[in-house]
This record gives sequence, structure tokens and C-alpha cells, in this order.
Amino acid sequence: MATAGAVVTYLLLFYLFLLLASPLISASSSAPVAALPTVAEQPQELLLSFKAFLKDPSDALSTWSPSTPYCNWSHVTCTGTGGAVAVSLSLQGLGLSGEISAGSVCRVPGLVALSLASNGFNQTVPLQLSRCTSLVSLNLSSGAFWGPLPDQLAMLTKLTSLDLSGNDIEGQVPPGLAALQGLQVLNLGGNRLSGVLHPALFRNLTRLHFLDLSKNQFLESELPPELGEMGGLRWLFLQGSGFSGAIPETFLQLEQLEVLDLSMNSLTGALPPGFGVKFQKLQTLGLSHNGFSGPFPKEIDKCMMLQRFQVQGNEFTGELPAGLWSLPDLRVIRAENNLFSGRLPELSTVVSRLEQVQVDNNSFSGGIPHSIGLIRTMYRFSASMNQLNGSLPDNLCDSPAMSIINVSHNSLSGPIPEFKNCKRLVSLYLSGNDLTGQIPPSLGGLPVLTYIDVSSNGLTGDIPAELQNLKLALLNVSYNQLAGRVPSSLISGFPAVFLDGNPGLCGPGMPNDCDAPRRKHQGLALAATVASFVAGVMLLALGAFAVCRMVHGGSNSSSPLKLVLFYPIKITGEELLAAFHDKSVVGRGAFGRVYLIELQDGQNVAVKRMISTSQPTFGAVKNGMKVLAKFRHRNIAKVLGFCYSDGEVSIIYEYLQMGSLHDLICAPKFTVGWNDRLRIALGVAQGLAYLHHDHTPRLLHRDLKSNNVLLTDEFEPRVTGFGIDLVGGEKAYRSLLASDLNYRCYIAPELSCTKKPTHLMDVYSFGVILLELVTGKPAERPASDDSVDIIRWVRRRINVTGGTAQILDPGISRTAEQGMQATLELALRCTSVMPDQRPAMDEVVRSLQLLCSAQTPPSTGIALEP
Ligand SMILES: *[C@@H]1O[C@H](CO)[C@@H](O)[C@H](O)[C@H]1NC(C)=O
Ligand SMILES: *[C@@H]1O[C@H](CO)[C@@H](O)[C@H](O)[C@H]1NC(C)=O
Ligand SMILES: *[C@@H]1O[C@H](CO)[C@@H](O)[C@H](O)[C@H]1NC(C)=O
Ligand SMILES: *[C@@H]1O[C@H](CO)[C@@H](O)[C@H](O)[C@H]1NC(C)=O
Ligand SMILES: *[C@@H]1O[C@H](CO)[C@@H](O)[C@H](O)[C@H]1NC(C)=O
Ligand SMILES: *[C@@H]1O[C@H](CO)[C@@H](O)[C@H](O)[C@H]1NC(C)=O
Ligand SMILES: *[C@@H]1O[C@H](CO)[C@@H](O)[C@H](O)[C@H]1NC(C)=O
Ligand SMILES: *[C@@H]1O[C@H](CO)[C@@H](O)[C@H](O)[C@H]1NC(C)=O
Repeated sequence: MATAGAVVTYLLLFYLFLLLASPLISASSSAPVAALPTVAEQPQELLLSFKAFLKDPSDALSTWSPSTPYCNWSHVTCTGTGGAVAVSLSLQGLGLSGEISAGSVCRVPGLVALSLASNGFNQTVPLQLSRCTSLVSLNLSSGAFWGPLPDQLAMLTKLTSLDLSGNDIEGQVPPGLAALQGLQVLNLGGNRLSGVLHPALFRNLTRLHFLDLSKNQFLESELPPELGEMGGLRWLFLQGSGFSGAIPETFLQLEQLEVLDLSMNSLTGALPPGFGVKFQKLQTLGLSHNGFSGPFPKEIDKCMMLQRFQVQGNEFTGELPAGLWSLPDLRVIRAENNLFSGRLPELSTVVSRLEQVQVDNNSFSGGIPHSIGLIRTMYRFSASMNQLNGSLPDNLCDSPAMSIINVSHNSLSGPIPEFKNCKRLVSLYLSGNDLTGQIPPSLGGLPVLTYIDVSSNGLTGDIPAELQNLKLALLNVSYNQLAGRVPSSLISGFPAVFLDGNPGLCGPGMPNDCDAPRRKHQGLALAATVASFVAGVMLLALGAFAVCRMVHGGSNSSSPLKLVLFYPIKITGEELLAAFHDKSVVGRGAFGRVYLIELQDGQNVAVKRMISTSQPTFGAVKNGMKVLAKFRHRNIAKVLGFCYSDGEVSIIYEYLQMGSLHDLICAPKFTVGWNDRLRIALGVAQGLAYLHHDHTPRLLHRDLKSNNVLLTDEFEPRVTGFGIDLVGGEKAYRSLLASDLNYRCYIAPELSCTKKPTHLMDVYSFGVILLELVTGKPAERPASDDSVDIIRWVRRRINVTGGTAQILDPGISRTAEQGMQATLELALRCTSVMPDQRPAMDEVVRSLQLLCSAQTPPSTGIALEP
């Protein structure tokens, strides 16, 4: 306090001195600034004292020292010669905070500009600043100021520029500011101002050419008609500030406007007739995201300098004024999400400088203008969700800048042009039209094409292999009539749903793998099947379903049998029921019997007829099945569909000729070699890891056992029987599981005492399968002369012999012993009684991958490190 007091006294003395010295200033009017040591010293001291209260962590004001004239200090500018030296302090962006000692700084004679913008003052706007009466410009923007806007600023009557934007200033705009009649720039944007704007503000501030009240979301005001009287306004920013009501007619008089931004308010009503007629200088018009309605006044075509026309997100109706399109400077038309109709006009390709046309989600009709592709500046044309018809112009992306084309969800027909010139094309969205013909292979030659969506059209032919050349992030070809082999890199890289709804497509991992001998006929048959389904086709949410059909058993009898297919397989509800006889049972489990059914086309499917305890509703079952059907992985068996009848559910799974791993292990002689066993283990682990970690929503298998591991003839496993709890509910799941003593050994011990199932329970079950593979014995009864399960059998042997040698399958050559030992150890970790000691499935995958790679001799012939 003592120092502050001293400083004040000191300053007062200087002030007195300044008063006495003022005649001196005028006396030496012709001398240059730096040559006025005695006079210049006083502002120097005032400024040093101002500095003394600031916190300047980066030492930005280090040049402010008594030894140099203040006009030479950094961030200080002196202008003017003679006695009237004008001083500007530009202290923006210096990381300053601390106290603003207005008492000092305001006494610096000739202080005309003060900027404290972009600092961290964290305080209210100092009232004392009102003493800086010589100020012409005050800039406090983004200075972390808060609190009310002081009335006292009205005393700065020389101000022409006041910038308080980007702070947290709250409360009303004081009507007193109307006294600042010389103000040309007023920026109060981005604060928390509230209340109603006083008309006097606008009536008196007739010199304003820049007014920014934007982003003050608590302002609740209609647009003041007085604003229209500020004839000099060139920039008017009122966006995002809670303005409501209509645009007053007085706005039409703002002839000097260059930018008018009224977007993101709650403005309504029609634009005043003649809107635009006087806006000779308007460059940017922003009306987006309001509730404007009615037609757009055609006088907009008088705005010869208009560059940006942004009216998206309103309820405008009628045509876009024809003259708009030919304005010579226009770059951007954004009119999406309105109710515009009419045709898109041909454009004058000579004058047009259009870069961006977005008119999505309106009711435009007619064809796509051929001139679009001729405008050399055009880079985005997006007109989705309209009623455009006709064909795609061949030259649509001939503009050397064209990057984004989106004409999805229209009624366009004809073929997709070759589009050979589209060197910049990144996104091509054509979905939801009536396009026919082939996907042009030439697309594969476009250098930066990354997103292709041609889904839901009538495209035929195959997926061109050339598309593999592209670094695609999206290739959606679903719901066309494409056929043939899918290029391999396009299968593995994308979710299978992007291929859905093209029954003729085939490839590994798809419902139709190309190598089946009946492929050609099957393709035809499938197409026919699909055609016959059309009446019942119902595309379920998320596009995951190829075909969904409801059959009502026999006729429309009282007990409906509902068959829902996710893939186009050839089966009817009646055939399904007829196949449920004892001869076709291939498995029995806790949840029901599994029947093997041969379809008309020779394909086999497995049908799990669930024991019904909970009587779930059709809706609940369908929801559960929808989730299950979306899991797609090389090692996960597909859910092809399901059948529902009176609470009884049968799930149709894909079936593999080799049967299950359990079948193999229980065969008289289990002769599968170690390499193949490891591959089976890895595949199952990968399938489970996919369920647990890679897919959302995540899924627990909850009934993993060797019966539920199907095998291809190359010992590639597919896991089936998952997610039963999703179909029948948790309660039914648990009660059924408890009733099944046979396969208890797969179930993690903690299940009975926890409510919430965890992925570590699946890990346990997986560990049991690993034990089966290592020992070559079935889990439920490893030794015919003993009734213990495999867990106990293994643990006992380890305890008895203290080693593991007697556990490993003796049928396997000793050369694999090391790998088998490691696998046994992994299995023991997985089947640990303590859940938290079990590894997660992705870790298991990594361990097994290591074991597999150690198994395969490297081609170089160099032995791997052990
Ligand atoms: C102050 O600046 C002027 C002009 O830039 C220069 O001539 C003069 O030498 C400077 N004085 C000092 C003390 O740095
Ligand atoms: C601003 O100051 C207050 C105390 O006056 C303090 O609580 C707050 O953390 C400060 N905010 C910043 C951003 O420094
Ligand atoms: C105020 O200062 C900020 C930061 O330097 C600047 O961007 C802004 O243009 C200034 N305001 C005025 C009206 O000059
Ligand atoms: C507005 O201007 C008029 C005359 O130009 C003046 O009488 C009045 O006081 C001003 N209003 C305010 C609030 O300063
Ligand atoms: C289409 O525009 C209307 C406004 O006219 C809007 O309400 C609707 O959400 C938009 N539809 C989509 C899908 O964006
Ligand atoms: C496009 O639709 C209009 C009606 O909106 C119709 O008159 C015209 O013939 C259609 N053109 C084509 C090529 O289908
Ligand atoms: C294309 O339009 C559709 C429908 O309006 C929209 O869902 C999609 O995101 C758009 N794509 C691009 C790249 O604009
Ligand atoms: C792919 O296209 C289908 C059908 O138009 C659509 O349902 C699905 O959402 C699209 N997927 C993506 C990711 O665009």
C-alpha cells in the first residue's frame, strides 16, 4: 500500500507539472518528438507506472525503460509532428494480466489508441478508462474481461472505434453509449449481453459503418427498425444472438451494406419485398438457420457484387430467383434444407465464378444443368434429396476443381458416365437414384477418389477390379443388381453391409462364395428368389439385411409362422417345419436341438430350434436377431435368418460340411495335426476377439464349446451359437444353462454367483477348447474310465505328476511339444479360477499368432529364435 500511495503522490506531482508545462508544448510545436526531452519525460513516467502494475510474464515490455525515449519503446507508436503527438499503445497478445492502472495511462497526453486485446486480464472493464478522454480507439477484445459494460465509457466522446468483443461482458448495452456519436466501429460480439437494445443506440450512432452484436445468445430482441436508419453501415453482424421477428422494411435502405449476417437467429416471416434492390455493394448475405418463409425476392439479382448467398435451413418456397445464378461475382450458393422448387437453371459459363452449389433437401426438379461441369471454378455440387430427373451429364465433373458431387436421393436415371476428367474428385455420392448400367471401370483411374456411394440404384454387372487402385474410405454398392466376384481387396477392407442387397455378388466370406460348383445357376436362382421376395421385402434399419420375408403358415391362419431371412436363401416356413424330425438332428444342447436341413439348391443350413421357456415376443426376438445378424467375420458363422411361431424361435445358421470341432474330437480317432489345431485355436480366438473388442455393440458368446465351433475342410473355424441370451433373455438363458449338465465344464465357475456376465467367462470357455485341442480329448469326458471333466483331469495330472508331459496328446509328434506346452500354459491361464488372471481375447490372439508363426518354418530356411 505504501508504494502505491507513493506512486500516486508522485503521479500527482507529474500531473501538476504537466499542467504547468503545457504552454511549453505549444511553444515548441515545430520540434520533433524525440527532441523534446523535458516534455516527453512525463508520459514516460506515466507509462512506466502503468507498466509497473501490469503482470508481464514474457517480458514483452522490456524495452520500456527510462533510458530510452518512450516513442522508441516497442508497442508504442507516436505519430504526428509538432506539439500534438498522438500516442498509440498496441499491447495486444502479450500475455498481460494484472492491474490496468487507467489513472496513469489515461493521463498520457495524446493517447489516441489503446489496445489491450487478447490478454488475460480476468477482471471487469475498468471504470477509470473513462478518463482516457482523448481515446479515439479502445480495443479490449478477447482480454478476459467480465462483468457489466460500464455506462462511463460514454464519456469517451472522441471514440470512433470500440471493440469489446470476445469477452464475458454481461447485462444490458447501456443506452448511454448513444452519446458516442462519432463511433464508426462498435464490436460487442461474442459476449453475454442480454435484454433489449435501446432504440436511441441506433438512432444516434449514425456514423457507424461496422456493427457487431453477434453471438450474444441472451439478447432477446426484435431487429430494431432504427437500425435501418444507420445509412452508413457496411458490415452488420447480428448472427447467433436470439433476434426474433421479421426483418424490418427499413433494412432495405442500408445501401452501403457489404456484409449482412443474420444467420442463426429465430427470425421469421417473409423477406420484405424488394429485398436486395438497393444492396449494390452487398458481398455476403447470411440468412441461414432461421425460420424465414415465403419466396425469395427476385431483386437479389440487383446485388451485382454478391459473392456468398447463404440461406440454408429456412422454409423458403418457390424458385430461387433466376437472376441470382448469373451474378458475376457469386462464389457460393447455399440453399439446402429449404422448400425451394423449380428447375436448376443453366448457367452462363463465361461469367460464372461459382465454386460451391449446395441445394440439398429441397424440391428441385428437372435435370442437372449441363453447364455445371463447364464452370472452371466449381468444386462442390450437392443437390441430394430433391426430385431431379434425367441422366447424369457426361461432363458433370469436368471442372478442374470439382471435388464433391452429391446427387443422392433423386430420380436420376441412365448410366454413370465415365468421368475420366475428374482429377480432383474426392466424393461421388449417387445413392438412391434409378441409375442403371455398370459401375464404370474408369472410376478406378481417378487419382483422389476416396468416397463412392452408388448404393440403392439399379446398377448391374460386376464391381470393377480397377476400383482396387483407389485408396477408398467408402465404397457403398449395396442394393443394386451387381453380380460376380467381388475384387478381393474390396471384400476385406470394408464392412460386408456395403455389399448387401446384391445377391449375385460372391466372394470369400459372403453368403455366396464363388467357388461353389453351382455358382452360375445359383446366381440366377438367387436373383429369381429375390425377385419373388420383392413383395415381402422390407429393408430393415441400418441396411444390414438383404432380404426379409414374412410367411404366414399355410394361409392367413390364426397362428402365424414368421420367417425372417437376412440372406437370400431358398427355404419356406413349411419346409423348415417339415425338416424338424429326429433324423435330421445333428446336435443337442441346453438351448435346444440343432437340425441339419438341405435346401433346394443343395446348400445346407443348421437350424437351432430353441427350447421355449420365456415366450419372447416377435419384436423382442427380431431385435435380438438383428443385432446377431450384423456380426460379420471370417471366423463367425452367419446367422441367416430365423423363424418365429407362438413364442418358439428357430435360428438358421450357416452350416459347414465338416461339422463341428466336437464331432472331430469325438470321432474314433482324432487325427488332426498340431498345425491345424493351432489354426483352429487362432481362428476361434480371432472370432471371439471380434465379438469382444472389434465390433460395436460388443457381444459375449456365452455358449462357447467345441460343438459351436464349425470347421471348413481347411480347418478354418467358424464360431456359431452366440448371443442366445439376446434372443430368449437372461433369465431363460441361465435356467436352461443350469439344466444342461453335459457341458457344464465350459462354464466359468463365477457364473453362478455373479449377475453380470463378463468377457472373461468366454475366455474361460475358450480355455477349455484349448485344453481339448492340446489333449485331444473331449471336454466333458476326457477319459472313458473316469467321470471328471477336462479341467479336473488336467489339474489332477499336473498335481499328481508335477509335469505336463502326460497331458499332451500322445498322437502328436514330439517335434510340436514346445508349441503344445506353450498352448497348454495359455489354456491354464484362460481357465484360471480367478477371472482377473485370465487374459483378454485380443491378448490370446497375439499369443497364438506368435505360436503359429513359430510353427511355420520360415522360407529363408533360417531357424527362428526360440
Ligand atoms: C529512437 O528512434 C529514432 C528513430 O527511429 C532513432 O533515430 C533514435 O536513435 C532512437 N533513439 C534511441 C535512444 O534509441
Ligand atoms: C479469474 O479470477 C478468479 C478470481 O478472481 C479466479 O478464481 C479464476 O480462476 C480466474 N480465471 C482465470 C481464467 O484465470
Ligand atoms: C482489436 O484487436 C484485435 C486483436 O488484435 C484485432 O483482431 C481487432 O481487429 C481489433 N479491433 C479493431 C476494431 O480494430
Ligand atoms: C442522441 O442525440 C441527440 C441529438 O443528436 C441528443 O440530444 C441525445 O442526447 C442523444 N442521446 C443520447 C442517449 O446520448
Ligand atoms: C430438410 O429440410 C427441412 C427444413 O426445410 C428440415 O427440417 C429437415 O430436417 C431436413 N432434412 C434433413 C434430412 O436434413
Ligand atoms: C423429369 O420430370 C419432369 C416433371 O417434373 C417431366 O416433365 C420430365 O419429362 C422428366 N424428364 C425426364 C428425362 O424424365
Ligand atoms: C450426400 O447427401 C446425403 C443425403 O443428403 C448425405 O447423407 C450425405 O452425407 C452427403 N454426402 C456428402 C459427402 O455430402
Ligand atoms: C450404404 O447404403 C445403404 C443403402 O443406401 C445405406 O442404408 C447405408 O446407410 C449406407 N452406408 C453408409 C455407411 O453410407
